[in-house]
Amino acid sequence: MKYIVMLLGCLSVSVASTNALAQPAAPSALQVRSWAAGCANCHGTNGVAQAGHVSLAGQNADLMLKNLLDFKEGRRPATLMHQLAKGYSDAELKAIATYFAAQKN
Ligand code: HEC
Repeated sequence: MKYIVMLLGCLSVSVASTNALAQPAAPSALQVRSWAAGCANCHGTNGVAQAGHVSLAGQNADLMLKNLLDFKEGRRPATLMHQLAKGYSDAELKAIATYFAAQKN
């Protein structure tokens, strides 16, 4: 009996984790900020770049997402961004673009 209870416990845990994989939660604000921090070396802290680099802060979110997807799909030629953009899902790129659009330039 004890064994069956333990077995049922294991089964419900695996069902719960399968559901979590099927429907990923929206990324947390902290998660999005840490993705955006990966862009800071070239695009500046919070997207405000030094002279000679493109600032992302305050850009239109839809346009930024389009640019990122164009890099990812190879529609826009690039030296770097075509590779970087491939590291993120479309939903992650949207979250990052929304984050930078909300930053003050
Ligand atoms: C190693 C430097 C580097 C990093 C890191 C980097 N970028 Fe870029 N980014 C560039 C360069 C260089 C360009 C110009 C296109 C090219 O040659 O790749 C660019 C262009 C862009 C553009 C197009 C801007 C415009 O208005 O035309 C966007 C949007 C962008 N980057 C977003 C990001 C995001 C979001 C991240 C982080 C996930 C990021 N970049 C990380 C170097 C970088």
